[in-house]
Amino acid sequence: MDVELLERTLKREKARRLKAEQLLEDKSRELFHSYQTLQESHGQLASALDEVKSQQRQLVQSEKLASLGTMSAGVAHEINNPLAFVFSNVNSLAHSVEEFRRYHDEVGKVLNADSADAREKTLGELASYVKDADLDFLFSDCTDLIDETRDGIERVKSIVAGLKAFARTDSGSMETVDVVECLRTTLKLAHSQIKYKMEVSEQYEELPLIKGYPGKLSQVFLNLIVNASQAMDSTGQLVISSSVLPDTAVKLSFQDNGTGMSQETMDSIFNPFFTTKPVGEGTGLGLSISHGIIEEHNGSIEVTSEPGNGTCFTITLPLNDAMSSASNDEQVVDALQVDSQQGQAS
Ligand SMILES: Nc1ncnc2c1ncn2[C@@H]1O[C@H](COP(=O)(O)OP(=O)(O)O)[C@@H](O)[C@H]1O
Ligand SMILES: [Mg+2]
Repeated sequence: MDVELLERTLKREKARRLKAEQLLEDKSRELFHSYQTLQESHGQLASALDEVKSQQRQLVQSEKLASLGTMSAGVAHEINNPLAFVFSNVNSLAHSVEEFRRYHDEVGKVLNADSADAREKTLGELASYVKDADLDFLFSDCTDLIDETRDGIERVKSIVAGLKAFARTDSGSMETVDVVECLRTTLKLAHSQIKYKMEVSEQYEELPLIKGYPGKLSQVFLNLIVNASQAMDSTGQLVISSSVLPDTAVKLSFQDNGTGMSQETMDSIFNPFFTTKPVGEGTGLGLSISHGIIEEHNGSIEVTSEPGNGTCFTITLPLNDAMSSASNDEQVVDALQVDSQQGQAS
């Protein structure tokens, strides 16, 4: 009897085990299937992410091009002005060179005179030529013309340098950057766009060199400068200052006395595409891109503002060179993916 009971129990156990094994096999198959589906989805997601990143990279470039576009008319004017007077100066210098050649010929005649009479005659001609041509005036005028021409060429050179610095694609690794120099060059570039809107007061403390991407920093500075000028109802003022936080960072501030912003606006300014400006004037990308660039430098960008009283953006950039190892565009791009960054990056 006991043996029979044992056999039945064993049979039941065996059946149960078989069922459990079957179940386990089914579940494993299901799991494997789910794993395969998951892997496929992961692949699709990864390529979608790549696509989004590449589109965002294009957005960063578009923002740069958009600011270049709005600047280009002014920049062309800034270049044309000195070019016009350089051209006219060169014409005047060419005329003077002609006069000096004639003087040289007259002197030659005196030197080559083969008799006392001839010398007397050519000397008389030389004296009257010198009197008529007013060579003294020509000499001093030439010096002025050359100085002015040099100034004009310097102006064109600095605008072109600004354009080059702004439009450059930074290399993959950080370079040594003179932040104040970068600010100055960017200001020259922005000059034509902002000169009727505001005065810029530059209060720089000498800064140590930092490691960074000069082209990208120039993009940040240009955006802050143009934003300030666009926040001016009438002639306003922007104070740009730099200082050193001992051994740790450099600090830049952009204080304007423009319209200021409400808390609600301030909460959104670092979001991609947030703009309060009409189409054509704002892309809404400037600050989100700036935020990404400053993050890429392991720095921070903060804002304080009061409606009616103006706005102050403060940027800190660390001095140490233990910079982020993330590839240079990644963080700018990543910053664009953040839905809401409220007034501060760090
Ligand atoms: N200096 C400033 N004063 C007042 N408002 C500002 C200032 N800078 C930025 N803003 C606000 O932040 C918004 C976003 O700026 P930004 O990202 O540069 O885009 P955009 O300039 O194309 O509008 C602006 O539309 C404006 O409302
Ligand atoms: Mg802007």
